[in-house]
Amino acid sequence: MRRIRIFSAMILVASLFLIFFYSTLHLETTYTHRVGPEELLEQATLQVHDSDVKTLSSMREGFTTPQHDILNGTVSNSLRETIPQNEAYWNRLLYSVLRNLETGENPFRHDSRWSRCRETNQELLQTNMHDFASYPVLFQTFVKSMNCRSPPVLINQPNGCMSREGKGNNRTFLLFAIKSTPGNFERRQAVRETWGREGVYQSGLRVVSVFLLGSSPLDDPDLSPLLSFEAKHFGDLLQWDFHESLLNLTLKTNMFLLWALKSCPQVSFVFSGDDDVFVNTPVLLRYLQSLEASKASRLYVGHVISTANPVRDPKSKYYVPLSFYDGPYPAYAGGGGFLISRGLLRPLHSLSRVIPFFPIDDVYIGMCSKALGVSAEAHAGFQTFDVNEQDRENLCVHKDLILIHQRSPQEMKRLWKGIHSPLLTC
Ligand SMILES: *[C@@H]1O[C@H](CO)[C@@H](O)[C@H](O)[C@H]1NC(C)=O
Ligand SMILES: *[C@@H]1O[C@H](CO)[C@@H](O)[C@H](O)[C@H]1NC(C)=O
Repeated sequence: MRRIRIFSAMILVASLFLIFFYSTLHLETTYTHRVGPEELLEQATLQVHDSDVKTLSSMREGFTTPQHDILNGTVSNSLRETIPQNEAYWNRLLYSVLRNLETGENPFRHDSRWSRCRETNQELLQTNMHDFASYPVLFQTFVKSMNCRSPPVLINQPNGCMSREGKGNNRTFLLFAIKSTPGNFERRQAVRETWGREGVYQSGLRVVSVFLLGSSPLDDPDLSPLLSFEAKHFGDLLQWDFHESLLNLTLKTNMFLLWALKSCPQVSFVFSGDDDVFVNTPVLLRYLQSLEASKASRLYVGHVISTANPVRDPKSKYYVPLSFYDGPYPAYAGGGGFLISRGLLRPLHSLSRVIPFFPIDDVYIGMCSKALGVSAEAHAGFQTFDVNEQDRENLCVHKDLILIHQRSPQEMKRLWKGIHSPLLTC
């Protein structure tokens, strides 16, 4: 009798241990599980329409099936009208993709697998861009890896769009997708404490933020333990395994679109912006609420740069060589901060899988929108080039704006407090 009791006690202890072990294991995987691109695509297909599924799965099967029906109808002629067909490399790539889409052929020319996508054939690059050797090193790096589109996920938030407080209606109205870099802890914290704070605003509108990160360069200190702590604590980090670089922001945007389609399908609007801008969240929400349904479903609004041309000064960080791209830029909303509707996420993502990556991310979104036939709409509340110097500290000027370029974490907190002060009379 006694033996049986000891035996059952041992079984109980063993099962408790197993349960405990499994639950910690599960916690571990939630935070550190590396989701491969294949798996992510697999997950993405669960969320998307039939036609998308066909496209996505044909992409997975080595791009052999000519299934691009969602794109056939969506590549608008205005893209061709804006971007000339000429000898420059990117222009040639674009027109070859468009031709292939029309004839139903495979629009891809390269292997999309992460480990195999880098172009090392110097002769090929030299043949296509006669002065390739004189491109700045970073630009050369961009060109070599511009077909790399599926970096492994380092930190994921599969439920990143739900309320992390777990109460009330979980549907998120506005998602802030904030481009950050691993080292910018202070800026992220300032955003969390001010305009990006998760919460429910007027009329029950829920706001959630996620920060988009790449990985640090190899010779930088390893911040991954800090980041994984931050991710556990705040649940608002997304990180992919590609090097942070201005020229990799298009890749970051592309990865974000994929994540949003999967993890945030119910969101009404997405704000994409930098971690050093100031956003007046209540004014932004009032603006979004005031929109008519037809406009709200195809919104692409911000500070519109309508007549830009590529910068041809090799010393500029926005330099684009003539042999790479030749032509004006389409009208685009400045990447410091702009808004898009949920309805545009899927078509933008589909297009970004076929339109060759462009080194400047906001120009790229402008190009994809052009292809969709959606034009960037200007709104005077978006000041991505900042207000006049003498108004930098003027709270009344800031009270009605939606976005202001470049504020330090301290300025962000001062401004947020100031514009919310009941003592402020303007
Ligand atoms: C909201 O989320 C919490 C946890 O994230 C969940 O328990 C709850 O059922 C959700 N509520 C609704 C209305 O979906
Ligand atoms: C972009 O990320 C990839 C993957 O980490 C890297 O190989 C490439 O050098 C980066 N591009 C630039 C321009 O830094």
